[in-house]
Amino acid sequence: MKTVKIKDKEFALSITSDKIQKAVCNIARKINTDLAGKDPLFLVVLNGSFMFASDLFKQLTIPCEMSFIKVTSYQGTSSTEEVKMLIGLSENIKGRTIVIIEDIVDTGHTIEDIKNSLKLKDPAEIYICTCLFKPKAYLKSIKLDYVGIEIPNDFIIGYGLDYDGFGRNYADIYKIV
Ligand code: IMP
Ligand code: MG
Repeated sequence: MKTVKIKDKEFALSITSDKIQKAVCNIARKINTDLAGKDPLFLVVLNGSFMFASDLFKQLTIPCEMSFIKVTSYQGTSSTEEVKMLIGLSENIKGRTIVIIEDIVDTGHTIEDIKNSLKLKDPAEIYICTCLFKPKAYLKSIKLDYVGIEIPNDFIIGYGLDYDGFGRNYADIYKIV
């Protein structure tokens, strides 16, 4: 079994690049059909989504724009109250069709916060597109419109995803052992 070591932890090959690319193609095909004529604006959530976004965009054939956003976490007034703030959005999104591009949806806190922040800017509609999804960890009810691969609750790295900043560079996905 192919493994990689990142810092103090060992990870074993879990999802091959080939399987990821098939999932990316499936999403692209659906988006090319569903969002034709809507001139969507794709908002890529950095850092993790850069690799997925790059592969996905190469498969899109409809007129579209893309831009990059980031979320920063800070603690609210009580230590348990974590708020995610959206930064980097310079476009006027009023009346636009928006597609949020995420690497992974785990509990769903991040994607929900991003969606709520964007709603305040009055877009016509917001779709969510994520490469990976952990359904057993998901605590929210908002619909995930485009999901590449559903995965178990293991911690993973590779294909943009990191452990403590490292491991984003692998084309395959590895899970912690
Ligand atoms: P959520 O807010 O719980 O849905 O978590 C979303 C964020 O947590 C993702 O955008 C990732 O940055 C990070 N994350 C969740 N699961 C993993 C994982 O297995 N490996 C690396 N990062 C993860
Ligand atoms: Mg992310």
